[in-house]
Amino acid sequence: MLVISITSCKDVITSDAFYEKDATHLVQDALDKKVDSVLNLMTLEEKIGQMNQYNGFMDFTGPVPKSEDIKRKLEHIKLGYVGAMLNVRGVKEVRAVQKIAVEQSRLGIPLMFGFDVIHGYETMSPIPLAEAASWDLKAIQESARLAAKEASAAGINWTFAPMVDISRDARWGRVMEGAGEDPFLSSEIAVARIQGFQGIDLTSQESILACAKHFAAYGFPEAGREYNNADIGTSTLYNTVLPPFKASNDAGVRTFMNSFNQLNGIPATANKFLLRDILKEQWGFKGFVVSDWGSVAELIPHGYAQDGKAAAKVAVNAGTDMDMESHLYVHELANLVKEGLVDKSVIDDAVRRILKVKFELGLFDNPYKYCDLERENRVTGSKEIIDGALDMALKSIVLLKNENQLLPLDKNGKNVVLIGALASDKNSALGNWRAAAKEHTGISILEGMQQYDADIVYSKGPELILGKAEFTKEIRINNTDITGISEAVKAAKDADIVVMVLGEHGLQSGEGRSRTQLTLPGVQQELLENVYEVNKNIVLVLQNGRPLALPWAEEHIPSIIEAWQLGSQSGNAVAKVLYGDYNPSGKLPMSFPRNVGQVPIYYNSKSTGRPSLPSPDFVFWSHYQDEKNDALWGFGHGLSYTAFEYADLRVTDNFSFNGTLEVMVQLKNSGKVKGKEVVQLYISDKFSSAATRPVKELKGFELVELETNASTCIKFLLDQSHLGFYDNEGNWLIENGSFDIWVGGSSEAALKATIELTALE
Ligand code: NOJ
Repeated sequence: MLVISITSCKDVITSDAFYEKDATHLVQDALDKKVDSVLNLMTLEEKIGQMNQYNGFMDFTGPVPKSEDIKRKLEHIKLGYVGAMLNVRGVKEVRAVQKIAVEQSRLGIPLMFGFDVIHGYETMSPIPLAEAASWDLKAIQESARLAAKEASAAGINWTFAPMVDISRDARWGRVMEGAGEDPFLSSEIAVARIQGFQGIDLTSQESILACAKHFAAYGFPEAGREYNNADIGTSTLYNTVLPPFKASNDAGVRTFMNSFNQLNGIPATANKFLLRDILKEQWGFKGFVVSDWGSVAELIPHGYAQDGKAAAKVAVNAGTDMDMESHLYVHELANLVKEGLVDKSVIDDAVRRILKVKFELGLFDNPYKYCDLERENRVTGSKEIIDGALDMALKSIVLLKNENQLLPLDKNGKNVVLIGALASDKNSALGNWRAAAKEHTGISILEGMQQYDADIVYSKGPELILGKAEFTKEIRINNTDITGISEAVKAAKDADIVVMVLGEHGLQSGEGRSRTQLTLPGVQQELLENVYEVNKNIVLVLQNGRPLALPWAEEHIPSIIEAWQLGSQSGNAVAKVLYGDYNPSGKLPMSFPRNVGQVPIYYNSKSTGRPSLPSPDFVFWSHYQDEKNDALWGFGHGLSYTAFEYADLRVTDNFSFNGTLEVMVQLKNSGKVKGKEVVQLYISDKFSSAATRPVKELKGFELVELETNASTCIKFLLDQSHLGFYDNEGNWLIENGSFDIWVGGSSEAALKATIELTALE
């Protein structure tokens, strides 16, 4: 990868390099010998025990098996029948459970402790989709590092993150947890997150294992419905779904999690093609694969295994090394081995992988490495971590629209009225997957704005949520109770500016939160339109975990800010942007549709045989009768309080195959304040004989900060890795021919050049 000024590309640590770095602590041969020395001591049952992961006793992040029995789990730890726990957290609890494994089991093999540290541990940073909107790889890496620091201080040594699933369908609630629709951006972000979690030294007390999930195609559930089947073609699989996973492996991620879905009829948990052929053989993955929660047992309802025994057999043979909460490996594998249905070498390979990671973490040297109470107290919620959460929140905000320069707000003298139930809420912006965050601990937007305007008038409007938003229950949205609208309208009437905070509750996106509508939930649209009737100077602040379809707002509301769910520091970050103490620079990592009927919608789509209107009134072309084809706000879109001008796109002579191609562009800050811009480079391979290529593909980006009136030349380098693609058999190809290159501030980039690639035989 060779886009020069892109920070992370140069920094990518390949898995071999990663292991070499670790070799300063443990030489690989010595490590293997250590692993074997332990393996040789183990009974079959103890080996299988390492492949068993149990949920803890407090938190649940999946359905609890009926046979849930704490006593039995503790007994199994004593017998050495457990390799890892999840949802056991806090130094006291982790130490107590570890002590049982180390002191009471025959071999004293330490446990790993996994937890969903998805965007922070106790201090929440923005949801991952929001962080992706920063396009700031250093900041994203730092955010993961701080999350690892706080989580590791609480005894955790393994996070089930990053989620690197690409998705094009905002109906799917888990888009909040990924990096959006683009494989190039998502791969870069996956690497940044892994480096942040794992650091360069796994033996450090602040490093935790990362986990690339969900392998694979979980982000393509049919009709956006959670856990639904993915039926995708090989072109999409190789070029869109797999690249962020491959990048994760190349970056040295130590664990992979497989997924709940079927891929083209084969459940991912028992998918040999994915797990053995691609991941372990082709990519040479050296870590281990954990199942998703109960996904081994789910092979039965999938219709792929007739009972628990068959499920354990197909999962382990396919390459799932550890069973999370199905309780099937621990009960079935020994018999399967004895009956010759699972080979001993399959068990040994899985256990070797797991033990190796435990050695790399340094758990055999010190099983209580993460169990320091003083450190937990010092690190949790420390200033460094809170400041980091604020920094990330600021960088994640996207200015979608700003007409009449309504923003930034004047700090003096304007009469600003704030409206919306989400504006004073201290819970929602913590987002879903809020790990160990305490309820109602986010800074609300009202609190943030009060720091600028102590007497700001606030009118809540209708409640957004009626029921208690419990973890596993549906949130009851207020669809009928319009109490509060008239008061809000009254408050808005004479204001100079009305700031309205609308969107989704933080627990309305995430796992199990698919929606068929992408409109504002409840009566919020009614509230917006009623307020607009009396005052058109509206700044709309959106809080949501997925793209929403808001054509009315786009047409009528002059200023719109996308503030996602920004975590613990949400209100402080939003207020700084509203009042101009921070100039927003975020860009959308996912297209916002005009209408739910357009999804899946994504900028890097394929053309069709009839892509455009040949003459007015012609009906036979690829379009809708009742809606435009394009997005409301496309991928890469985002404005600033200043203005940027692009000029003078140049490319060096035609591409020499083994060399690199330089692409240069001039960027000027022609506005009135200092600002940052994400300069984006897209290509299009215009004709391909092997398989068609998307109309546009992101292949480089750079975040640039410029003083007002300053200019700079941005240079990108492209090579074969940017111009090639996978054919439908998974072979990497690059073909002669014409490529268009665009550079600009979004996927609508206007400056274009064309190159010819002719050097290939
Ligand atoms: C199910 C989710 O799909 C997965 O992402 C998560 O890590 C596990 N539950 C554990 O909580």
